[in-house]
Formats: sequence, C-alpha cells, structure tokens
Amino acid sequence: MQEVIIKLLKEKNPAPLSGQSMARELGVSRTTVWKKIKALQKEGYVITGSPRCGYIMERIPERICPYELSAKLGTQNIAPDPSYIHCLASVDSTNELLKQMAEQGAPEGTVLIAEKQQQGKGRMGRNWSSPEGKGIYLSILLRPPLPPHNTSPLTLLAAVAACSGIKTVLPQLAPGIKWPNDLLLRGRKCCGVLCELKAEMDLIHYLIAGIGINVNTSLDELPPSLQETATSLQLENNGEKVSRTSVAAAILQHFDELYREYLAAGVAPVLDRWTSSNITLGKKVKIESPNFSFQGVARELDNSGALVVEGVRGERKHFAAGEVTIL
Ligand code: BTN
Repeated sequence: MQEVIIKLLKEKNPAPLSGQSMARELGVSRTTVWKKIKALQKEGYVITGSPRCGYIMERIPERICPYELSAKLGTQNIAPDPSYIHCLASVDSTNELLKQMAEQGAPEGTVLIAEKQQQGKGRMGRNWSSPEGKGIYLSILLRPPLPPHNTSPLTLLAAVAACSGIKTVLPQLAPGIKWPNDLLLRGRKCCGVLCELKAEMDLIHYLIAGIGINVNTSLDELPPSLQETATSLQLENNGEKVSRTSVAAAILQHFDELYREYLAAGVAPVLDRWTSSNITLGKKVKIESPNFSFQGVARELDNSGALVVEGVRGERKHFAAGEVTIL
C-alpha cells in the first residue's frame, strides 16, 4: 500500500492530494492512509500537509529505501519486488546479517543494504571502511542450483555488474576490473566485492555477494592508509554528488541480467564480459597470498575464472585466489 501512496503523491506533485481520495483509491479508511503517511515520514520521506488539506510529497529520502530502489528495477531473480529489499540504518556487516537471514530461509534474490557498517568486511580479512550515508554497502543472497566448484565465476560476475552499473549512471567514468573483482578509476580503488559461500561437497546452501562502493565519500572519510590508493565516484565525477539509489539500482539490474545469463549459458559469457572490462590482462603483475608471491605477465582467465600468469621462464601458473598488484 505504501508503494501506491508514494506513486499517487508523486503523480500529483507539487499539488496536494487529499487523504480522502487516497483512501477511496486504496479502498481503506482515511486513518489507515494517515498511519501509512506517518510510517513513510519515519522512513525519511518529507511529506507535508494534513488529512483535511491534503498531503504533498516534498522530498524522497536521502537514504536508500526499498520503494525508491524497487521503482527503478525490472528484475526477475534479484529483488523482483520491494519485499526482497531490506534497507537498514546501521549493521555490523551486510554480509554477516544476510548470512543469518539465509540461515532462516530468506529467498534467493534478497538484498540487504545499510547506510553504514560498523564492521564492514573486506577480502583477505581486511576491513571495509563504511562511513554513514556515503557509500553503497550491499549484499545479495543467491541460491544457485549448481555444484560448489562452479561458483567462483559469480565473484567475477559481481564485479562486472558493479562495473556496468557505474558506467550506466556515469558514462563519463571508465572503471576497470583488477582481478578478481576490484574496480579501479584512474588507478585508484572505488569498489570491492566479497563473496561468501556455504556449501556441502555437492550442494550450495547459499552464496552472499557483498559489494562495497565509495560513492560520495571524501578522502578524509577514508582511513589514512587508503588515502593514496582509494577514490570515490564523486571525486572522479568532478566533485558532483552521485545518486546512491541510481547506482545501486543499475548494479542490481545488471546483476540480474548477468546471473540469468550465467544460469542459462554457463561461465563463458561472464568470462567474456569480465575480459572486456578488465585492466589486468597483458600487464606485469605480482600476485600474493599469505602462502605465495609470484611475478609475471597476466595472460588470461582459464575456464574456472582463475588468473593465468606467465613467469619469466615462460611457465604458466593458474591462480584461483590472491591479491594482484599491477606493476
Ligand atoms: C574488498 O576487500 O575489496 C571487498 C570489500 C567488500 C565490502 C562489502 S560492503 C557490503 C558487504 N558487507 C561487508 O561486510 N563487506 C561487503
């Protein structure tokens, strides 16, 4: 019902719409309409007026909210309606909370977004700095009907979706993907992906794809250790503020299309799309993990999405995980 109220008020804007006509249209009492208006105001909608004189939608919320996000989507698997979208003011980590929701049976396509994270998680045990209202901190729940060894392309898919979503809203920017799933703008990181999986040998219980983007984040809102290497969409957009809702919607839209293509056609299209947006292949790289460090030229992805690096003696090594530095 809230969705319809928002739609009616927006259509009538800037003129007021009476509680009476909304009540008639919805087949409910004026008191019910008034209660729903109160609930929307709590969510951050600025709605002025009274039941008698009518209501005016002055402003939609600054924060990302399910109705505004859902109105921009036409997705099938990911957030097919607003009930799949959960927007919270503050969480420890959207990945962690979505895992708990998955354990309790939340369906595939559930999306969790927070205005801030107290303990945002990055890859390799790092933190993800998540200042309030500045970035997109978003996790998507998937339950792909695939054996667990088929899932690593999903982490590449998430990076392609984020890259395409940013390009859709800000075509003047040219993000590139550093293997496996960092997005860089002019050599600085603006987005990272953390995928987490719960599976048995033959069965995936669920996969959480967590995407973090610095959107309207200024450098001094990031930890000092990142100020040389990170950036945000606003900083790369000549300082102009960027709509977080538009970017989040575009990412979910692309994610939905790519995921359906992956389920129907397998890994090849994901690898092709990753390849056409990447800034890793052909470059001299160092790849590291706690257990190894190797230098060479990044040549290609193999069929599983692993990075093939050619060492100085021409030996080709396949890396399924690791941290790449472009030299
Ligand atoms: C990286 O290290 O590059 C990955 C960063 C992933 C951050 C996102 S923000 C939303 C989701 N929730 C988390 O705790 N982490 C991911």
